[in-house]
Amino acid sequence: MPESEVSQAVFSDLTSYDKWLEEEGLPVIRGFHITDLKDVAVAPWRRKGGAGTYVNLDGTGGTNDAYVVEIPPGGNLKPEKYLFEEVIFVLSGRGATTIWNEGGKKQNFEWQAGSLFSPPLNAWRQHFNGQGDQPARLLAVTTAPLVINLFHNRELIFHNPMVLKDRYAGEPDYFSSSGKAHPGRVWESNFIPDVASFKLQDMLRRGAGGTSINFELANNTMCAHISEFPVGTYKKAHRHAAGAHIVLISGEGYSILWKDGQTKTRVDWHTGSLFVPPDMWFHQHFNVGREPARYLAVRWGSQKFRVSGVLSMAGVEDSVKAGGNQIEYEDEDPEIRRIFEAELAKRGAESKMAPFFSKQR
Ligand SMILES: [Fe+2]
Repeated sequence: MPESEVSQAVFSDLTSYDKWLEEEGLPVIRGFHITDLKDVAVAPWRRKGGAGTYVNLDGTGGTNDAYVVEIPPGGNLKPEKYLFEEVIFVLSGRGATTIWNEGGKKQNFEWQAGSLFSPPLNAWRQHFNGQGDQPARLLAVTTAPLVINLFHNRELIFHNPMVLKDRYAGEPDYFSSSGKAHPGRVWESNFIPDVASFKLQDMLRRGAGGTSINFELANNTMCAHISEFPVGTYKKAHRHAAGAHIVLISGEGYSILWKDGQTKTRVDWHTGSLFVPPDMWFHQHFNVGREPARYLAVRWGSQKFRVSGVLSMAGVEDSVKAGGNQIEYEDEDPEIRRIFEAELAKRGAESKMAPFFSKQR
């Protein structure tokens, strides 16, 4: 074979993950955000069963991805296991999942809209719809892009007999919703029954009387958190690594995202919206609705299993003036506040920010 043909055959602009994605034969949603995950179109999924779509938003920087899968009424997905992590959030419906290690005992747990859980790495999993009259829809955030690109070996990733007991050793209470509290608003558990009603803790440094909780799930390197902020308020802008998938659980508002010194992008959101702030872009969340705004973020940055400074959340609560990655209210562009107040005025509502501004000085 002439040398030029050899080069053409071996090299490609596509990553191993890109090629895998093409073979999956599913729609892929790209871009900046999704208005409502409950409405996105899904197509039959040969490998998994059910129907789905991949979600590869720009803000992931190719470090992680997401998919939506729908289980038909009364139906189930195929059993499968793989060597990338996934954190699953139930968008709608209710059902059950069976988990087992290769050769090990099976265990089941039930979920409903609002539940969050993570099948352990390389454990078998199978999902069942518990209702006969409507589909169940799941959102999963995964580390597939990094894992598939690093190893570029499907046999290793999808047919690996290794049982990873440090992740899951068949503990009977693994998905019982029990857990362990750690300092720093951390709840370590493998099943959160309902992120909409989960009790949060004060997180004053991010501004606006906000509350939050951090989740460590299934001994993953990925993690998650919930954040909530009151009616008529907005959080401080901050920036961090790529790949934080932000799903709106309740409320109505918008977020502004920008790379330092560049034009700002606005995303309007409500329950069911998804967006991913790009790597080290500032982003700031504004509640202009009539109820507290609560979101779930599934992201890099486990505090138990750290990966790399490139994927960390360092300095997210510290002022940029002190070398951190947060813009205090007193340092922000005055346009931020003006636009927020104008948005509230359009809805006949008022800003509740005065106490938080005055605390700054
Ligand atoms: Fe953030």
